[in-house]
Amino acid sequence: MTHKMMLEDAVRTIAYADAIAATVRPEHRVVDFGSGTGVLAVFAARQHPKRVDAIERTSMVHFARQIAARSGCAEIVFHHGDHTTFQTDGPVDVIVSEWMGHCVFHEAMLEPLIQLRDRWLKPGGQMIPKRISLHVGLVVDSAVHEGDTFLHGAPYGVDFSAIAELPARQTGLVTLARDQLLKTDCNLATLDLETLSAVPESFTGEMVADKAARVYGLLGWFSAELSPGITLGTGPDDPLTHWRHMYFPLPEPMDVEPGTRLELSLRPPQLADAPEPGWVWSVTIAGRTQTIDERETFRRCARGM
Ligand SMILES: C[S@@+](CC[C@H](N)C(=O)[O-])C[C@H]1O[C@@H](n2cnc3c(N)ncnc32)[C@H](O)[C@@H]1O
Repeated sequence: MTHKMMLEDAVRTIAYADAIAATVRPEHRVVDFGSGTGVLAVFAARQHPKRVDAIERTSMVHFARQIAARSGCAEIVFHHGDHTTFQTDGPVDVIVSEWMGHCVFHEAMLEPLIQLRDRWLKPGGQMIPKRISLHVGLVVDSAVHEGDTFLHGAPYGVDFSAIAELPARQTGLVTLARDQLLKTDCNLATLDLETLSAVPESFTGEMVADKAARVYGLLGWFSAELSPGITLGTGPDDPLTHWRHMYFPLPEPMDVEPGTRLELSLRPPQLADAPEPGWVWSVTIAGRTQTIDERETFRRCARGM
């Protein structure tokens, strides 16, 4: 159950509780977008605001109502629907949402969140999170690839050779430590949720290697400013969260020297790519570019190549 996993992530959940307590005032109207179990709506209701609305599109909303009532917050108004069906009795002061997927963009909730904000948030209203930054590092530990041989070995007597090459050409969730990366990271973007008008289609950035190393892939993670002064980090220097880190392998390892300049680009999955949305990433060193397009990986797989 993914909700249990998110609730067990105390780093995440307590950071949200702290940000909500620091933001919500008795005169406020609050919306919890994508309320799941209703936990963030309950945190908001504990600040005794004028009203809390919670929006959830799955039937989890029925459990959330019970959870809220049993936690002394029966006044929360739950809506079974999404941003398009939501109605309330006036503009709101705070929108809280835990919408971030792995490496920020794995769940397609940002576009709906922007639409909800534009329709319902008062001028000067507050978003939790307030800002999100996307970070990329360079993986220099070959051990990250060790799992790639598993499918080659016909585990359980089943011939998986048709998909054995896929893990090396797809994103994967990993948990890496700082010493498995170069020291220099790249902040690819910082999104201000109170002003962002559209979800950027892709991100580019540059970084300079701090030492000689063989680079096997990129590592992606995010950090969030939930409310002024209350942050949530999910990177290799932060306490571990359920988001872990996202690994973007390179087709071939690339050697760098101190001072080598690397150009990076990352294109998150787009709704238009459904039913098989994929990431696209590339690294360029001295005019030589290596790219992986996960959508192409899926297409080749479908053609049996
Ligand atoms: C990452 S979970 C967070 C759940 C809960 N707020 C928490 O912090 O534990 C996101 C939730 O948003 C819901 N969701 C995703 N897109 C939605 C949409 N467009 N409208 C309403 N709910 C949505 C999902 O069903 C899921 O329950």
